[in-house]
Amino acid sequence: SVVVGRRVRSRRKWRRVLGVLADLEEGCSTPVGRLKQVVDAMAVEMHAGLASEGGSKLKMLLTFVDRLPYGSEKGTYYALDLGGTNFRVLRVQLGGQRSSIMEQHVEKQPIPQHLMSSTSEILFDFIASSLKEFVEREGDGSQTLLTRRRELGFTFSFPVKQTSVSSGILIKWTKLFYIPDMVGREVTECLEQAMSRKGLNMRVAVLVNDTVGTLALGHYHDADTVAAVIIGTGTNACYWERTDAIIKCQGLLTTTGGMVINMEWGNFWSSHLPRTSYDMDLDADSPNQNDQGFEKMISGMYLGEIVRRVLLRMSQESDIFGALPSKLSMPFILSTPMIAAMHEDDSPELTEVARILKDALEIPDVPLKVRKLVVKVCDVVTRRAARLAAAGIVGILKKIGRDGSGGITGGRTRSDVKIRRSVVAIEGGLYTSYTIFREYLHEALSEILGEDIARHVILKVTEDGSGIGAALLAAS
Ligand code: GLC
Repeated sequence: SVVVGRRVRSRRKWRRVLGVLADLEEGCSTPVGRLKQVVDAMAVEMHAGLASEGGSKLKMLLTFVDRLPYGSEKGTYYALDLGGTNFRVLRVQLGGQRSSIMEQHVEKQPIPQHLMSSTSEILFDFIASSLKEFVEREGDGSQTLLTRRRELGFTFSFPVKQTSVSSGILIKWTKLFYIPDMVGREVTECLEQAMSRKGLNMRVAVLVNDTVGTLALGHYHDADTVAAVIIGTGTNACYWERTDAIIKCQGLLTTTGGMVINMEWGNFWSSHLPRTSYDMDLDADSPNQNDQGFEKMISGMYLGEIVRRVLLRMSQESDIFGALPSKLSMPFILSTPMIAAMHEDDSPELTEVARILKDALEIPDVPLKVRKLVVKVCDVVTRRAARLAAAGIVGILKKIGRDGSGGITGGRTRSDVKIRRSVVAIEGGLYTSYTIFREYLHEALSEILGEDIARHVILKVTEDGSGIGAALLAAS
C-alpha cells in the first residue's frame, strides 16, 4: 500500500505538471484570428507613430536614408557592425556594375560581456582598436592610414534619433547593453573621437540601424525588396515609406520620394498579444521594464529565459527533475541556441535534450517522458514567437498596401488583381539557424495571407547584410 500511495501521489503531481503545460499552451495560443488582430494593431500603431512624435510605442524613427543602393556603387568601403552578441568589421570592394560586390572580407568576434556595461569611452576604444587592427591586417600600412581618409558605414543596432544620415543620438539601450553615460549622446561623435585617439583616419559616412543595412543589401540584390526584419538577439524591422505618409515631419523633409523608417518594433505593444505570467515576471525582473514587449516574446535573448521560467515552475509543482535543481533558478542560464538544439533533437531517446539538461542545468538522468515535456515547452514558446513575428511582417505589408487586401474592391476577385511581388530581407540567428522557428513563421504567413498572396511574399536571407549594407550606403 506504500507503493500504491506513492504511485497515486506521483500521478497527481504529473497531472499538476500537465496543468502547467496546458495553461502555458492556452496563454501562448495564436489562432489565425488573433494573429490578424496583431496585424491590424501593428498597422494602426505604424500610422500613429508616423503621425506624431511619441504617438505610439512604435517610434517609427527617421533614418534620412532616402535612396537605396542600386548597384552602381564603386570603391572600397569599410563597415562596423555593433549591436548583438557579436561585433563585425568588414571591408567591401564594389565593382560599380549592377550588384557586383567584387570582394568582401568580414571578421566577427564576440563582444566581451564586460564592455556591454562599461563606459562609452571603453566600449568605443575597443571598437576603434579592433577596426584599426583590421585595416592594418588588410595590408594597408599605417602610412596610408594617416594620409588617406576612409569612408565608414557604422551599423549601430539600437534606437537612435537620427539628426542626419550620418549622425544621431542614442535614445536608450536595448538587449544586453547598459552603458548609462552613453544615453542621449551623439553616437558618431563617440566613435570618431575614439578613432582619432587611436590614430585612425576615418569618417563615418553613414550611421544606420542593422535593419537598414539589411534592407540596403536586400535592395542591392533585388529591387522588389520593401522591408527588412531582424530576428536575432533582438528583433526589429524597417521599411520604405512614402514621404507624404510621414506626417510628423511634413514640410521638413526635402526628399520627394520616400525614406527608410526604422520601426523599432521590439517595443510594439498591443492588448491582442498573448501574454502569460512568465512574460510578466520576465518583464518585471528586467532592467528595461515595460519596454520592448514584443521583443521579449520573440527574440533570441529571451526565448530560452521564458522556457527556463516554465521549467522552474513545473519543477516547483512536482519533482519532475528530482530535488529542485539550483541551476534552474539562475536567470538566462538557458540560452536560445540550447532550446533550439533540444527542440530539433530528433533522436528517439532525445539524447541531445538529456545532454543539455545535464550540462547546462546539472540535471542528470531525466526520464524520457520528462524530456518530451521539455521539448513541448520549447515548442510552445518558439511557435508563439515565430507566429508573432509573421504577424508583424504582415502588419508592414498591410501598411504599405502589399498584403493583398487593398486591391480587392469593386467586386473584383482575388484572381483579377495583379499582386506585386514583395521581398522582405531577413537576418538573425533565429530565422537562419533555427529551422523549426523558420517553418512556423512561414506557416503563419500563409495562414494569415492565404496561399495565393503568400506566394508573392518572399523572405530572403541577406548574410551579413547589416554590415555590408552599411558599406553600400556609405558608398552611395
Ligand atoms: C533591438 C534594437 C534595434 C535592433 C534590434 C535587432 O530591438 O533596439 O535597434 O534593430 O534589436 O538587432
